[in-house]
Amino acid sequence: MPIKKLASALAAVLLVALPLVSSANEGSYPPAGNDVRNIASLQRGARNYMNYCSGCHSAKFVRYNRLAADLNIPEAELKKNLMFTSDKVADTIKTAMTAEDAKKWFGNLPPDFSLIARSRGTDYIYAFLHGFYRDPSRPTGVNNTVLKGTAMPHVLADLQGVQTAVFKAEGAEKGEFEKFELTQKGTLTPEQYDEFVRDTVNFLQYIGEPIEAKRKDLGVWVTLFLLMFTGFAYLLNKEYWKDVH
Ligand code: HEC
Repeated sequence: MPIKKLASALAAVLLVALPLVSSANEGSYPPAGNDVRNIASLQRGARNYMNYCSGCHSAKFVRYNRLAADLNIPEAELKKNLMFTSDKVADTIKTAMTAEDAKKWFGNLPPDFSLIARSRGTDYIYAFLHGFYRDPSRPTGVNNTVLKGTAMPHVLADLQGVQTAVFKAEGAEKGEFEKFELTQKGTLTPEQYDEFVRDTVNFLQYIGEPIEAKRKDLGVWVTLFLLMFTGFAYLLNKEYWKDVH
C-alpha cells in the first residue's frame, strides 16, 4: 500500500501548493507578458511611471525607500532621478496635482495606482496603453478602444506616435473596431513601445503587491520541502514496519 499512500500524499501536496505558484493574471485581453521577478524591467518601469504617469496618478501606499530597497536603486539615484514631489525617502508617492484641479482639467479623477493592476489586471492596462487613437471630436484629441471616451489624454503619444482606428465598413459587424494604422511615427519603434508599456505595467503589478515575487519563490521552496519530507516519511514508514512484516 505505501506506494498508493505516497501517491495520494503527493496529490494532496500539489493541490495545496499549485495555486501558490500559478500566475493570477486573467482577463480577455492578450497577455502583457510581464514578469515581476525581472528587476531590470521593474527599474525601467519605475522610471517610466515617475516620468510619464506620476504627474497625475499617485501611489499612496508605496514609499520611496521601499521601492529603492526592492528594486536595488541606490538612494542618491532615487533622489536625483525618481523623486519629483518630495525629498523625504520615507514619504509615499503623491502627485503635485490636487483633486479639484484634476476634476476641472480632465472631468474625471486619475485613479491612484497602488492597486490598479489588481483591480484592472496588467493585460487590461497593457491594452489600454495601446488603445489610444486620433479622434478630433474629443477634448483630448484622442479616444481609446479599451475605455471609450476616456478622460485620459494620450500622454505617450510622443513615444508611440499617433494611430488612427479603422472600423469595419460593411456587414453585420459594421462600425466595429478592425485595426490601427500608425499615421504619425513616434520616437520609439512599435517593438520598443511594447517594451516600454510592458515595463510600466510590470511596475504597476509590483506596487500592487510588493511581496508577490517573494511569495511565489517561497511557494516553490515550500513545495520542494514538502516533496522531500514526503520521501523521508515514506522511508521512515518502511523502516518502522520492516520487522513487523
Ligand atoms: C495628464 C494626466 C494623466 C497622466 C500623465 C496619466 N494619466 Fe492615466 N488617467 C488620467 C485620467 C484623467 C484618468 C481617468 C480616465 C477616465 O476615467 O476616463 C486616467 C485613468 C487611467 C487608468 C484607468 C483606466 C480605467 O479603466 O479606469 C489607467 C490604467 C491609467 N490611467 C494609466 C496611466 C499610465 C500607465 C500612465 C503613465 C504612462 C498614465 N495613466 C498617465 C490622467 C492621466
